[in-house]
This record gives sequence, C-alpha cells and structure tokens, in this order.
Amino acid sequence: MRTSTVLLALPALSTAQQFPFVDQVKAFFGQASASISSAIPEASIPPIPNPIAAGAAAIAAANVQRLTLDNHERVLRPGAATASPGVEEWMIFVTGGNKTCFGNCKGVEQTFNESVALISASPSPPNLALLDCETDGVLCNAWTVTIPSILHLQIPQPLADQSKPSTTIRYIAVNRTSATAPEFAALHLQEKYKETQPYDGFFHPFSGPLAIAGALIPFGYLMWGIAKVPSWAIMIGISFFSRTFMGRRFGPQAGRDGQAPAAAAPAAPAQ
Ligand SMILES: *[C@@H]1O[C@H](CO)[C@@H](O)[C@H](O)[C@H]1NC(C)=O
Ligand SMILES: *[C@@H]1O[C@H](CO)[C@@H](O)[C@H](O)[C@H]1NC(C)=O
Ligand SMILES: *[C@@H]1O[C@H](CO)[C@@H](O)[C@H](O)[C@H]1NC(C)=O
Repeated sequence: MRTSTVLLALPALSTAQQFPFVDQVKAFFGQASASISSAIPEASIPPIPNPIAAGAAAIAAANVQRLTLDNHERVLRPGAATASPGVEEWMIFVTGGNKTCFGNCKGVEQTFNESVALISASPSPPNLALLDCETDGVLCNAWTVTIPSILHLQIPQPLADQSKPSTTIRYIAVNRTSATAPEFAALHLQEKYKETQPYDGFFHPFSGPLAIAGALIPFGYLMWGIAKVPSWAIMIGISFFSRTFMGRRFGPQAGRDGQAPAAAAPAAPAQ
C-alpha cells in the first residue's frame, strides 16, 4: 500500500524535480571527484615499500618474539622456548619510538630485522626477541635498558634439584647510526657478545636484590611514572606547593610589606 503510493508519487516527483535533481547529482559527483582528485596526489603515491625492509620484517616477525610486561616471565622461563638441555641463549633487541627514541630507532630496528635471517641460519640460533620501550616502558625501566641496545641472556636450565642457576645478562650498546646487520649477527655467530662484560649489579633483572625481593616491576612502574611526568608539570607542582605553603605561612605579612607579592597573591582574597 505504502509502496504503491510512493511509486505513484515518484514520476511526478522526478519530473518536477528533474533538473535540480540532475544538477544535484552532478554537483555531488563533481564534489566527490574534486575531493578524490585533491586527495589523490598524496594517497596515490604511497611510500615505495623497501623490499629488503619488508622481507626482513616478515622474517623477523616469524622468528622474533615480542616481549611485553605481561609475557616476559613466561617467555624467558628456562626451558620454555626450546626443550634442548643446557643454556638457552637469548638476543633481545631493545627499541623505541617517537617518545622513547625520538623517532631515531626505525633505521637500526630495520638493520636488526635484516640480521635476523643471518642469525636464524646459524646451526644453533639463539632465541630472538624484540622489546619496544614505547609500548613496554615499565619493563624497560625495570630492566634499566638503554635504547637501542641488545640484551644478551644466557638462561641455564634448572638443575635436577630444581634450583635455578643464575642467568647471565649483558647490556650490549648499539650505535643507532652505524650498526650493521653483520655486526648484529656476529654477536652470536662469532660470539662477539663476549666482548661485553656480564652485568652483575644491583639492578640485575634475575638475581639482583630488587629482582629477588620481587620489587623489580614496581620499581619499573615508579621510574616509568616519574619519567612520564613532564618537567613543566613538576615545575607547576613545586610552584603551587610553595605558593600555598608560603601563602599560608607568610602571605598576609609579606603582602602588606610588599616583599613577596607573588607569594601573597593566593592569600589576598581570604582577607
Ligand atoms: C622489524 O620486525 C618487527 C617484527 O619482529 C616488525 O614489527 C617491525 O615493524 C620491523 N621494523 C622495521 C623498521 O621494519
Ligand atoms: C612519529 O613521528 C612521525 C613524524 O613526526 C609521525 O609521522 C608518526 O606518525 C609518528 N608515529 C607515531 C606512532 O606517533
Ligand atoms: C656512532 O657511529 C657514528 C659514525 O660511525 C659515530 O660518529 C658516533 O660517534 C658513534 N656513536 C657512539 C655513541 O659511539
């Protein structure tokens, strides 16, 4: 019923409105194509994908585990990734983004990705992982890493009596401008990691006092939180605190004397 009324009404409508309607359609398409053509210059020229980077990222994605605050204990548990007895070797590439690496880590990250194919071809490839401090800042702070760098771990299997021998960790500095894929690969293939001394200090992520006390991740949150607060906020906080404090203690007096008008200001309306 309703349909037929509409159908009947349609021809009348279309004849009455034909020209404006056509014009509207034209205008619509005109606008659409105009906006498409204005969008095209940028959209139609995508950044030419770098085939090596794309291939390397694919290989890296298949071979490199992403370490996060949530999964790191599970992933790095001895015996978790490989069933082979002995010591498990890990190479963890630490990277960052716009905030944590000022956007300067993309190049070295790609270089590391390119090295993954070389490293994986070794007869006894290490476990590979990537830690992105942009997304996992708490873990990065807990482990006190620098960006970019390689964390080299040797995680021993638990002994027969279930006691855990200690993990060896090396913080290997990486030059973000000059690091090459063969250099990354040589850390494992030629055991160049041995040129860096193992770290055995207070912040050792597995056997340091903080780690043993289970305080490493809370410490990471603390440092991460402090780093998050921008310095201007700290300045405002200090200024607010001192104004309030000074205003209460000395405000009226100082205001009257004209000694410290800034400190007296908040107290003035109270008088
Ligand atoms: C490196 O590989 C990872 C996968 O492990 C990928 O997420 C990342 O985008 C790659 N980085 C670059 C710069 O290609
Ligand atoms: C990082 O910064 C670059 C340039 O300033 C920008 O194009 C890009 O979108 C930013 N990336 C993220 C994840 O914010
Ligand atoms: C990184 O390499 C560049 C070029 O070789 C060099 O100029 C720079 O000093 C190096 N940076 C560090 C921290 O070693």
